[in-house]
Amino acid sequence: MLSPNSDQSTNALPTHVAIIMDGNGRWAKKRFMPRLEGHRQGAKSVRRAVEFCRSNGIKFLTLYAFSTENWQRPESEVSGLMKLLSQFIDSEIDEIHKNDIRFNIIGQTKRLPAFVKNKIEAALAKTSKNRTMVLTVALSYGGRQEIISAALKVHEALLSGSMKNEDVNDSVFSSCLNTANLPDPDLLIRTGGEIRISNFLLWQLAYAELYFTDQLWPDFDENSFWKAIEEFRSRQRRYGKISEQIQSQS
Ligand code: IPE
Ligand code: IPE
Ligand code: MG
Repeated sequence: MLSPNSDQSTNALPTHVAIIMDGNGRWAKKRFMPRLEGHRQGAKSVRRAVEFCRSNGIKFLTLYAFSTENWQRPESEVSGLMKLLSQFIDSEIDEIHKNDIRFNIIGQTKRLPAFVKNKIEAALAKTSKNRTMVLTVALSYGGRQEIISAALKVHEALLSGSMKNEDVNDSVFSSCLNTANLPDPDLLIRTGGEIRISNFLLWQLAYAELYFTDQLWPDFDENSFWKAIEEFRSRQRRYGKISEQIQSQS
């Protein structure tokens, strides 16, 4: 007998892929290298993932680079990551721009050091009119903090009278988040073997397909990405309905 999903093998590619890029530290530790070397190698995987999405027509890629909780790491690691990030923008932004990719940031950027903020602002401005793809980097990002700030925006609008209780719905709330102009992710990939969300896109992942792999982020390459995509394409997304309703739609 055919499996319930077997007729779904021609499912479309995801429009939006979000990735929790985990495992850089362990990659380095296995090789007796400093953790920062793992992050440096991780930057190469970022380049590969962007190129994978661009060349396969995946329009939105969102990468979790630094969480609000990551500020608690040793100062040397935090400052090393900030430097790496700034170097990444320096070395990649021309290529990103040339490929018509819009660079985007979500998170509490006001907490970032000035040299990183300046690089980010220049990159945002340079690529703001690009249309082929959106590369979003979640930096100093926390899903709970984002939800609190959206709730406060809604509260303000209710207080000022510009909105009424009955106007507040899913799409209004979504428009108050950092991701206001992005569709919700279709596929979430987490590398590094942990089966958790770690405060990433808590609201937006409501109906994402989740894919976890033990592979460490610096080892994640085109083949690994294809495996995740194939798994995504084999799933049936029902959004609460029953299988027959989904089949009759397609
Ligand atoms: C993910 O790799 C990158 C960041 C959180 C900045 P980790 O640094 O968490 O790597 P592991 O989990 O220690 O291996
Ligand atoms: C999640 O990885 C954050 C990023 C990949 C940026 P962590 O390594 O911080 O997650 P936990 O601590 O294992 O949950
Ligand atoms: Mg980790």
